[in-house]
Amino acid sequence: MTDKQLRVSKIQNGTVIDHIPGGQALNVLAIVGIDGSGGEEVSVGMNVPSDRLGRKDIVKVEDRELSAEEVDVLSLIAPRATINIVREYDVTEKLRVSRPERVVGVLSCPNANCITTAGEPVESAFEVLSDGVRCSYCDTIVREDIAALIEVS
Ligand code: CTP
Ligand code: ZN
Repeated sequence: MTDKQLRVSKIQNGTVIDHIPGGQALNVLAIVGIDGSGGEEVSVGMNVPSDRLGRKDIVKVEDRELSAEEVDVLSLIAPRATINIVREYDVTEKLRVSRPERVVGVLSCPNANCITTAGEPVESAFEVLSDGVRCSYCDTIVREDIAALIEVS
């Protein structure tokens, strides 16, 4: 693959989420709540060669501009992701993800006795630590494989 070829074609308007760790593209889509049912035009490249990351995933969503709040949750699984807002084929804005203090309604607690998983109408909430996340209700800490906690909507 040379610079002259693009595996996933350019978009006209929308958002390009670049520099996603290889294999995390579908988790990224789950976090931003895109599963195709809304009719969005989405392109995904997985394990494409990258100078910086060796292999990376890339996600392109046509006609939707993700907000900073939406993309910050991505920092949990893609801390080096670059968010490119594209208008009329040009990148008009480039955002980096930053770690939010708290994520609400995104991850489900692995503790079956937690009030958020016991069938009560309580939305999940986690404090973001430097090395993981902590359930705001039962204090369970998860450090590995946070992607496995992503709630399916
Ligand atoms: N891109 C796209 N459609 C466009 C413009 C850009 O799909 N109309 C994609 C590019 O293919 C690239 C990303 O958006 O994957 C960022 O574009 P650009 O800033 O032009 O590329 P780089 O300078 O290589 O970005 P970076 O420095 O973030 O690696
Ligand atoms: Zn909990």
